[in-house]
Amino acid sequence: MTALMITRLHPSLGAEVSGIDLSQPLDGDTRAALYDALGKHLALVFHDQTLTPEQYLRAASLFGPPMRQHYSQHNMADYPDIGLIWHRHGQEPAESWHTDHTNRLRPPAATLLYGVEIPSAGGGTSVANMRAALAALPADERARLATLKTVNRLDRGKSDTRAEDIDAFDKPIIHPMVRTHATHGSNAVYFHIGKTDRIEGWSPQASSEYLEDLLDRMIVPEIVYTHAWRKGDVLVIDDRATMHRAHGDYDRSESRVLWRIIAEGDRPVLV
Ligand SMILES: [Fe+2]
Repeated sequence: MTALMITRLHPSLGAEVSGIDLSQPLDGDTRAALYDALGKHLALVFHDQTLTPEQYLRAASLFGPPMRQHYSQHNMADYPDIGLIWHRHGQEPAESWHTDHTNRLRPPAATLLYGVEIPSAGGGTSVANMRAALAALPADERARLATLKTVNRLDRGKSDTRAEDIDAFDKPIIHPMVRTHATHGSNAVYFHIGKTDRIEGWSPQASSEYLEDLLDRMIVPEIVYTHAWRKGDVLVIDDRATMHRAHGDYDRSESRVLWRIIAEGDRPVLV
C-alpha cells in the first residue's frame, strides 16, 4: 500500500492527503483507505497533482463510476464525464449552498474538483459538515426532518438548459431529507434547495421558505472548511453528508478553471 498520510485541516471536517500521486494507478488497499477517509473527513485535499483527463477519470472512479453531468454544454468535448467550471465558458461559480445532482436516483457519492487555472486571490470553495448540522438541531426538529422527503428536478431559473438534458434529467426524484451514510453509518441533512421542487406534501413556496430558514440556522462557521485553491489541487467532496458553495470573489479578468467529475453513489436511504 502507498504511504499515504492524512492530516486534518479543520476541527469539523476536511483533511489533506499526502503521499499519493493520482496520475498513477492505486492499489486496492490504498483505494479502500481513501474511500473510507472520505466518509470520515468529508473533504479530501490532494496538492500538486498533474493529471490528464484519462488519469483524472481513473483516479475519480475509486469513489464511484463517473456520471454524466446534466448541463452538457459545459462538459469537455472529448471527455464528456468531465465538466468545466469556467466563467468564460458560461459556467459561473455556484455561490449558494447545495449538494450535487440530487435529481438522480443514485446521486453522486463524491464531487471531485481539479484546479487547472486558479485566480491570484479569491475563488475558494467552502464545504459544510451536514452531519454536524443535523446533530446541532433541536431534537424535535431532527425527528421531524427524518419524516420529510424532497421532490428533486433540474434547477429552477436556468435559461440555458439544453432540451436533451431536460428530457433526460428533469424527472421528479424523491429523496429523504436525512440520509444514512453508506460507509460511516451516521446521518446527515440532505437536500439541494435549487433542485427541490417541493417537500413532499408541502407547497413549493412553503418548502423553499423552510429550506432557506434551515440553511440560515444550520450553516455556521464552526462546521465550514473553506478551501483556498492552488493550481494542481484536487478537492474531493463527500456529497452524501456535506453541502458546498463556490466563492465568486475573484477578478473576472483572471481565469478560474476547475475540472469537475461526479462519482455515482447509492440511492439515499435513512436507516
Ligand atoms: Fe456543486
